[in-house]
Amino acid sequence: MKHGSYFAQGAISQIQVAFLTIGAFGASPRQLQTGNHTGPAQPIPYSHKTHLARGLKCETCHSNPPPNNELTLPAVETCMACHQAVARDRPSIIKLAEFAEGKEPIPWVRVYKLPDGINWSHSPHLRAKLKCETCHGDVSKMDVVTRVTNVTTMATCVDCHREKDASIDCATCHQQ
Ligand code: HEC
Ligand code: HEC
Ligand code: HEC
Ligand code: HEC
Ligand code: HEC
Repeated sequence: MKHGSYFAQGAISQIQVAFLTIGAFGASPRQLQTGNHTGPAQPIPYSHKTHLARGLKCETCHSNPPPNNELTLPAVETCMACHQAVARDRPSIIKLAEFAEGKEPIPWVRVYKLPDGINWSHSPHLRAKLKCETCHGDVSKMDVVTRVTNVTTMATCVDCHREKDASIDCATCHQQ
């Protein structure tokens, strides 16, 4: 169902929303308490831990180009800038080079994903000086990026918006 229809029908009241966000506790976003913390199997065994230990910065691979200034996943050329030469005989890098030669984007499996119909952009959050690790955990310790916070749930968005005096109007986050 499209989120918009809830508003058209006025089906959801503030009280129900309070209910949806009940269980809100502590600093947001909450760390997941359960789960085996295994990330999705990725097409190439890229490790944040290995690469960040060599001093790479997030912006090298997750730039936010205009006009939308959205964060993106790196193009295979970004990887090949080094892997043209580095570790080129390893099976994972041979596979990487095949994506590059085929001019195919690497089909990375997404870890954090909002449903359709939600207004989201990293921009206002980065302008507000929130740190990557607040919402994604410390990826520099992860070989495989795993979902370690509930940042894609409404309760977590609203908790932090309350805490930081950001808007909690429905229309801030829901396309109507
Ligand atoms: C600034 C240079 C640099 C960039 C950019 C870079 N890498 Fe690496 N990568 C390295 C180095 C250095 C190693 C460690 C090689 C070693 O173990 O000797 C490595 C290791 C790897 C390995 C492990 C290879 C193996 O089997 O031992 C994979 C897979 C890999 N990189 C994938 C990627 C992908 C995918 C990207 C792009 C998203 C990327 N790298 C971008 C420098 C880079
Ligand atoms: C050398 C390139 C490179 C660097 C540097 C890098 N990343 Fe990544 N990042 C990737 C690639 C490739 C993926 C997709 C594969 C995966 O999820 O591991 C990814 C995925 C992610 C994801 C999961 C996105 C999703 O929803 O699927 C997060 C979060 C992330 N990176 C955060 C960071 C942060 C924070 C930093 C800096 C501390 C950083 N990355 C530095 C290449 C990089
Ligand atoms: C306020 C919380 C928050 C902060 C701070 C944050 N992210 Fe995210 N990030 C998210 C959410 C939510 C998504 C899922 C967005 C979607 O599905 O459209 C996401 C998705 C991503 C993705 C997947 C690609 C995309 O844009 O959807 C990458 C890569 C990523 N984040 C990297 C970073 C990096 C790097 C930083 C720090 C510079 C950062 N994030 C800071 C909440 C955050
Ligand atoms: C850790 C705190 C935090 C989390 C988590 C968070 N936000 Fe925010 N959000 C903020 C802050 C701070 C601002 C900036 C408010 C300002 O500039 O006045 C903001 C701004 C926004 C804006 C722009 C509002 C405007 O008036 O332009 C949108 C849209 C938004 N957030 C949506 C979301 C959504 C959707 C989620 C959950 C997926 C989320 N946020 C999670 C803190 C957070
Ligand atoms: C700060 C962002 C934010 C605000 C403000 C917000 N929402 Fe949401 N809402 C989300 C996100 C993100 C989702 C999708 C993830 C989820 O279902 O938890 C969502 C999901 C929902 C859903 C679907 C829940 C489900 O289980 O499918 C309803 C209904 C909803 N919101 C109603 C509202 C109403 C009504 C308001 C205003 C009183 C509101 N939301 C304000 C972010 C927000």
